[in-house]
Amino acid sequence: SRAISPDIAKCGPVELPPNAITLPYCCPILPSPLKIIDFKEFAKPNAPLRVRKPIHLLDDEYMAKLEKGIAIMKSLPENDPRNYIQQAKVHCVYCNGGYPQKPPFQNLKIDIHRSWLFYPFHRWYIYFFERILGNLIGDPNFAVPYWSWDSIEGMQMPKYFADPNSSLYHNLRDPRHLPPYIVDLNYHVNAESTTQDQQVNYNLAFMYKQMVLADTKEVFMGGVYRHGDQAQPAIGSVELAPHNTVHKWVGRADLPSQEDMGTFYTAARDPIFYPHHSNLDRLWGIWTSLDGGRKDYRDDQDWLDSEFFFYDENLNLVRVNIRDSLDTKKLGYVYEEVELPWLNASP
Ligand code: C2O
Repeated sequence: SRAISPDIAKCGPVELPPNAITLPYCCPILPSPLKIIDFKEFAKPNAPLRVRKPIHLLDDEYMAKLEKGIAIMKSLPENDPRNYIQQAKVHCVYCNGGYPQKPPFQNLKIDIHRSWLFYPFHRWYIYFFERILGNLIGDPNFAVPYWSWDSIEGMQMPKYFADPNSSLYHNLRDPRHLPPYIVDLNYHVNAESTTQDQQVNYNLAFMYKQMVLADTKEVFMGGVYRHGDQAQPAIGSVELAPHNTVHKWVGRADLPSQEDMGTFYTAARDPIFYPHHSNLDRLWGIWTSLDGGRKDYRDDQDWLDSEFFFYDENLNLVRVNIRDSLDTKKLGYVYEEVELPWLNASP
């Protein structure tokens, strides 16, 4: 097999962008002796599914659960894998080259962006975050809501994240982009492209382009990336934008890499990262359903066998593969369906 699998015992310092504002050591603490379990916690057939809903349709009570869970994660000891910053470091280590590939390609660093690993890696990442958070608040059915920036009602930062007294607040964000300012899904730093009243229609047409017109797996999912290949073969349409652009739009335009959301080594320190990626995970599923069914890479054995490692809510280090991520119902969750206003927004 030529599937990617990180050599987690060889984790090393990450590569940071120029003028990084913090110098994190992102390698997670490993259990000693090293004990790894293979993922097998599939949802029981009749168990209730966790339903991920759009934040603009949720009430204060539900959002208070997310707020509470993140507050607890932030309060855990720094060396607890469930600790909030530890979780952010998992993202950092997989994005900024903390892990080498296995021999004989240990000179190549793994990066889960700009390739076919993008959607499945983040699916697993949010999955474990959700289980940890649900466990900490005593609600195993808790589902990470999604920031539906592709819905008209969702095209601004959800207000819950802008309340300075909330654990969902984050200091390093662009102060010009607080609600009710409309998000630019094709944002370029320091180049506000259009006026606020044109922005909604512009965003819908842009979504149509990135989702509907991106009708092959190579264009939508990103490039093939196997053991022995250089990282970042090709970026997928939605990963480039709105994914990257919304990251940059949230972060501070006046910092070198638009920290925190605007760059991988710090992005997951901002709580809005999780609903942002809940939405991207949802869009993967929607894309595969367009035109009566579009194909991602699910008949490629190397893609299916690609592996990642995460801590679960019981502090077990778990090995997962892409094959086991493909059916979200088997992972115990679904997305509440909402209208797709961009579906017919052909420019
Ligand atoms: Cu791994 Cu939104 O980035």
